Amino acid sequence: MDESQRRAWPWLGAGPVWTPRSARGAADDLPAGGDEPGGQDEGGGAAWEILRGEVTACQRCPLAASRTRTVFGVGDQRARCLVVGEAPGAEEDRLGEPFVGRAGELLDAMLAAIDHDRQRNVFIANVLKCRPPGNRDPAAEEVAQCQPYLVRQVELIAPTVIVALGRFAAQTLLATDASIASLRGQAHGCRIGGREIPVVVTYHPAYLLRSPLDKAKAWRDLRLVADLLAAAPVQG
Ligand code: URA
Repeated sequence: MDESQRRAWPWLGAGPVWTPRSARGAADDLPAGGDEPGGQDEGGGAAWEILRGEVTACQRCPLAASRTRTVFGVGDQRARCLVVGEAPGAEEDRLGEPFVGRAGELLDAMLAAIDHDRQRNVFIANVLKCRPPGNRDPAAEEVAQCQPYLVRQVELIAPTVIVALGRFAAQTLLATDASIASLRGQAHGCRIGGREIPVVVTYHPAYLLRSPLDKAKAWRDLRLVADLLAAAPVQG
């Protein structure tokens, strides 16, 4: 089993991971964290802060009246990998951060399997920045009003790869009505900010919690993301 397979094993639900003593490094005995550069770098540049302020003050659609907080996104503003979900849920609305519930835990495990995490080398955003009441599906008008914020985030981050989690993210980014099943398994081009960015479509973690058998397919999608990242030159 290679290192990324070992990391994927727990979230795939395949069983416990055994690490032979001989394979453990001395670093395993050190306290976690503390020396990681970067951290939650969302603050680079005036344009980014202006955008964040616009989202915080947004009144474009009726969700503004029912939200507790807007959920701008979290992570590294210079990330090569942008993950796009659907919309904040109740916990996200309360805390102002995307993917903080059980689906978020699964997303973190999925990202860890390809050596990514929300503190360091990925940015996580949603199509909608406000919670639809009762966690209902986003309405077409809400998506239309909110989409410019996501487009601007993509322009400013200029990611190497976008991961679309679930139907709403995929259909919004790719301007299609096609199903997840028909979109997965390959990279699609999405033209934003004068660049063509590969979009990899995969299942939403909330769906994977209900349908764990599809985790194997999601793992294949993540391997595609990792391959695209590895193949693309790192910009200075
Ligand atoms: N589901 C999403 O799509 N986004 C979140 O932020 C939380 C759950």
